[in-house]
Amino acid sequence: MRVLAISGSLRAASHNTALLRAAAQLAPEGVEVELYDGLDRLPPFNEDHESDLPVPEVARLRDAIASADAVLISTPEYNGTVPGQLKHAIDWGSRPYGPDAALWSQVVAVIGASSTDYGAMWAQDHLRKALGIAGARVVDAELPVSRAQDRFDNEGALVDLETAARLREVLDVLVAHRHELAQAA
Ligand code: FNR
Repeated sequence: MRVLAISGSLRAASHNTALLRAAAQLAPEGVEVELYDGLDRLPPFNEDHESDLPVPEVARLRDAIASADAVLISTPEYNGTVPGQLKHAIDWGSRPYGPDAALWSQVVAVIGASSTDYGAMWAQDHLRKALGIAGARVVDAELPVSRAQDRFDNEGALVDLETAARLREVLDVLVAHRHELAQAA
């Protein structure tokens, strides 16, 4: 099973990206977590171009989402909501609206990390809402990583055992949801 991991932060030392790298290491056997690395190259969403020949990075993002078995998104919170560039990715992935959209019926889990006590909870809630409206199957799992700077070492390795255990639980829920869908099909 292949899980596409999308970090909502463009920062080189991002805790959200580090959380997804940790997910790749903690993934159950047989599950490969692959980090999407093109977020900074995505153009702003433009409805005039939602269906015509997409620019290469939009096509690459859509292919990466659609061809994955599931998607794991880790978002920071900027001013109480989802960072703009991540929202562009969701909007590109949601159009043209309906079964042909990359996000349509895709299984997605949302987690997030912030430097505050709240662990990007609002951004995660807003992101789940947007994904649901886009037609994704948002799994019932959460991981708000608060005070993220205390949970990683200087090299970006996740050193907080409780966060690691909860991250593994999110991965298990995501994988189980995908398996259930495959069995029902
Ligand atoms: C923030 N931060 C922040 N944190 C939070 O919990 N709620 C918020 O509303 C905001 N707002 C906010 C706005 C802007 C413009 C910045 C740059 C930052 C702090 C933010 O969560 C923190 O910088 C995270 O560590 C960013 O995630 P990465 O880059 O480490 O993945």
